[in-house]
Amino acid sequence: MTLRPPAATSPAADRRDADAKPIQVGLLGIGTVGSGTFNVLVRNQAEIRRRAGRGIEIAMVADLDTARAEAIVGERAHVVGDARKVIANPDIDIVVELIGGYGIARTLVLEAIAAGKHVVTANKALLAVHGNEIFAAARDKGVMVAFEAAVAGGIPIIKALREGLTANRIEWIAGIINGTTNFILSEMRDKGLDFDVVLKEAQRLGYAEADPTFDIEGIDAAHKATIMSAIAFGIPVQFDKAHVEGITKLQAADIRYAEQLGYRIKLLGITKRRDNGIELRVHPTLVPARRLIANVEGAMNAVVVQGDAVGTTLYYGKGAGSEPTASAVIADLVDVTRLHTADPDHRVPHLAFQPESLADTPILPIDDVVTSFYLRLQVADQAGVLAKITGILAEHVISIDALLQRPSQDVGAEGGSKTDVIILTHDTVEGQMRRAIAQMQALPTVLAPIVSLRKEELA
Ligand code: HSE
Repeated sequence: MTLRPPAATSPAADRRDADAKPIQVGLLGIGTVGSGTFNVLVRNQAEIRRRAGRGIEIAMVADLDTARAEAIVGERAHVVGDARKVIANPDIDIVVELIGGYGIARTLVLEAIAAGKHVVTANKALLAVHGNEIFAAARDKGVMVAFEAAVAGGIPIIKALREGLTANRIEWIAGIINGTTNFILSEMRDKGLDFDVVLKEAQRLGYAEADPTFDIEGIDAAHKATIMSAIAFGIPVQFDKAHVEGITKLQAADIRYAEQLGYRIKLLGITKRRDNGIELRVHPTLVPARRLIANVEGAMNAVVVQGDAVGTTLYYGKGAGSEPTASAVIADLVDVTRLHTADPDHRVPHLAFQPESLADTPILPIDDVVTSFYLRLQVADQAGVLAKITGILAEHVISIDALLQRPSQDVGAEGGSKTDVIILTHDTVEGQMRRAIAQMQALPTVLAPIVSLRKEELA
């Protein structure tokens, strides 16, 4: 049976009927995500029109490489080398920014807003650093800035946090939100290799960029965690307050010991509500191996959200790539198409909370964060060494959860018997742990820099 669309009898349907010209989109940048967006929009245009109530058409594309852009879009869009020609075109309703970074992208987004265009962007760096300025400018002009593709690529986590979970007081979010580092960590665990070796392999296979700094130093994940934190807790974006550690110092030995204790090491973006503020941090983290998120392998992303009403929810999928990210960009295009005629005050607020209701809850300094720890100490294998170490932890009111002692792999030229002591602690304030580590490190029987990693039970 064929279902016909209902007759245009309602005011909304009348409006759609009268407004049948496809909404006009200008793309700034047609690289991996831009070409995916173009192709998926063309391929699924009929379905998208039925959902949006109106066609969505990429009418203009700006890219420095005009020949490559023309090869992708053919006759279907007007290609220009200058992004400002897109912004200046009065026929363009929505500008999609896919340039990246916070240089020219910021200028162009602000100019597009000033010209009264709605903006869709996949640019997490831009929003994490300049989001407050951009959202304020958009509010003043009554335009939308949509950014589903900025966090976890194809996973609709922004929609989930901003709308699907809107009943909840969100308690915490923990996510694998960088595919490159998750791929590297998976390979390190599977093959027992050190970071440097796997990074080279990841670059050879195209999983890591030639300059992988943003990924491996945790900066990309921190941009995404910053955006999720703002939406979850109704605070401004504050990337400068995030604590960021990457995976470059991670050693194969710690991945192995963590495994023996029932844990996997993942680079997590974590944001948590506490009585005295909000935690916002990215770092390698031990997670119980039985948790679903601990089993997210390769370049996949996953985000766990804890809400007071819903409990724990988990979102899993591709966090990057041409069509997965295009999926998120087009979802935003459909949202903007549906809502662009709505009164701006009745649209979904950029950061989920009404702008006048954003809170000034502080982001806690890392010393005030509460978490449990994994410690590895290489010590002289002598009587009384362990007693000294546990004594220092007790002095700082740090309680031990588990302890493992293994012969050290590192025999050393100077001879003498060495052993690795691995300790898991219960929750403690980070500043206390830092002071305890300094004291333990000063012991003459502690023979190498102490390795400390944070641990989250995610219960
Ligand atoms: N470089 C990112 C990652 C994808 O590896 O997940 C885009 O944010």
